[in-house]
Amino acid sequence: MAIRNIVKIGDDVLRKICRTQLTFDERLHQTLDDMAETMYKAEGVGLAAPQIGILRRYCVVDVGDGIIELVNPVIIEKSGEQIGDEGCLSIPERFEKVKRPLTVTVKAQDRNGKTFTITAEGFKARAFCHEIDHLDGVLYIDRV
Ligand code: NI
Repeated sequence: MAIRNIVKIGDDVLRKICRTQLTFDERLHQTLDDMAETMYKAEGVGLAAPQIGILRRYCVVDVGDGIIELVNPVIIEKSGEQIGDEGCLSIPERFEKVKRPLTVTVKAQDRNGKTFTITAEGFKARAFCHEIDHLDGVLYIDRV
């Protein structure tokens, strides 16, 4: 595993629409492992591929109960709302209040291409929304 450089705000790569990940090979696994290591080292709770300069639709999230890898994630259901502080590893030392759904259900693929759905509430739902936004070039400050 290796620590990757985290792209910071101002870099165009954070504003691009990412493309579908079509291959589920060793290279993807290595990148996901690197992303987890990079996220933990930076003490973040999520990291999306464009944040390490890769314009593909995948991200990792760990809000304290284990790593979740989402490849080609899509929010298929959302309900309620919550307002809370949000930050981003690409926007250092800044936190703002952002409104998000309280609960989301995400359909995604795992690192081997198997489709699954996962429902999250509260802070984890917030993290999912934030990371999935990254895949469309959206930063949380756009939603403040
Ligand atoms: Ni972020």
